[in-house]
Amino acid sequence: MRLTPTFFIQLFNPSPQIQVRKISFVYFKNLLEYIHNFQYINNHIVPKNSNISLKKAGGVTLEDVVLELNDLHTHFFTDSGEVPAVDGVSIKLHKGEVVGIVGESGCGKSVTSLSVMQLIPKPPGKIVGGEILYKGENLAEASEKRMRKIRGNSIAMIFQEPMTSLDPLFTIGNQLIEGIRLHEKINKKEANERAIQMLHQVGIPRAKEVIDEYPHQLSGGMRQRVMIAMAMALNPEVLIADEPTTALDVTIQAQILDLMKNLNKENDTSIMLITHDLGVVSEICDRVVVMYSGQVVEEGTVREIIKDPQHPYTKGLIRSLPKLNEREQKLYSIPGTVMKPSMEQVGCRFASRCEFAFDRCFKANPELYSLGEDRKSRCFLHDEEKGVEEFANADLRS
Ligand SMILES: Nc1ncnc2c1ncn2[C@@H]1O[C@H](COP(=O)(O)OP(=O)(O)OP(=O)(O)O)[C@@H](O)[C@H]1O
Ligand code: SF4
Ligand SMILES: [Mg+2]
Repeated sequence: MRLTPTFFIQLFNPSPQIQVRKISFVYFKNLLEYIHNFQYINNHIVPKNSNISLKKAGGVTLEDVVLELNDLHTHFFTDSGEVPAVDGVSIKLHKGEVVGIVGESGCGKSVTSLSVMQLIPKPPGKIVGGEILYKGENLAEASEKRMRKIRGNSIAMIFQEPMTSLDPLFTIGNQLIEGIRLHEKINKKEANERAIQMLHQVGIPRAKEVIDEYPHQLSGGMRQRVMIAMAMALNPEVLIADEPTTALDVTIQAQILDLMKNLNKENDTSIMLITHDLGVVSEICDRVVVMYSGQVVEEGTVREIIKDPQHPYTKGLIRSLPKLNEREQKLYSIPGTVMKPSMEQVGCRFASRCEFAFDRCFKANPELYSLGEDRKSRCFLHDEEKGVEEFANADLRS
């Protein structure tokens, strides 16, 4: 028997004729990871660097774009000047895909997601350019009436602080039942039972009592679960989760991530997950978009970003992750802080913090260089012979 790519694909997407499927999945997953010719995506093993790896296995291709940001510009007009908080961001979200948006505080993650929902405070904020295409419809031009419909049906958002979207004046039951009855033609009693069932599903103990309580009577973790239950009730096509687990302890964090994974798997919900935490990203995401100072600086699959980061900023983020086998060493952190975006800025936004910066970096802002299909990096080093070798080996120094 030859260990050809076809053999392995058939093995893990088995047909009844294949007798070998009883062989331990875990054993083979580890073996295949080890020989590095394959990657593990959404419970399927597919050859690396082939067209198959660009598609979500199981028949769902990444060709179906549900949400597409095209050269989005969102600016704030403040007393101290115009702030280009989102400066030409393009992101694609495919059906059933989970895309992580990562970057340090202030790099424009929340403003990007709030722009999609048209929830930017106006003034001082304004979308000044670009498109937000939801199944081809440009939401950047949609009326408030249309947006209310989109927010109630198609795109749901979970905020870092659930009190932002839970109404303190209504019980959990009231708020949940409203969402359920929007989608299911059932009476109040049935909707009440359905709501209790949903609270159980998201792991809320004593759901029968919680349904009559007000948001302030619940803990942060419980409120976050209620938010997820509400998002599930809406059964949205797209879920945008802005730091949904940052304020929670590790156990609750894992449970909330599981809930989101289930939503993604069972309903094929596309998820845009905003987080600081690369651990969370590797847990749940298919692709990652790295943002810095209002711009996308790198994009790739989770594996590519974690194992083979191309942009010096992403390299810094990966390098600052704690390593289990290096307990004694001081944790690395990228020197300096994220610069507030400014209209006057020339040069690469990361230049003042970049250990590879050279003359050109201070004179012009690099564009996103395409390094393969859906693989991009915004750095002059991809265009320069000088320094490329040193840069390529940079992670060895960490
Ligand atoms: N209402 C506002 N007025 C002026 N500037 C704003 C406003 N809201 C956000 N900004 C600016 O937009 C930029 C991006 O902010 P954003 O909240 O998107 O960052 P973030 O990546 O979500 O950070 P964090 O990880 O801390 O949530 C920041 O420089 C911020 O100062
Ligand atoms: S363009 Fe220059 S400053 Fe910017 S990330 Fe690349 S090397 Fe660093
Ligand atoms: Mg934010």
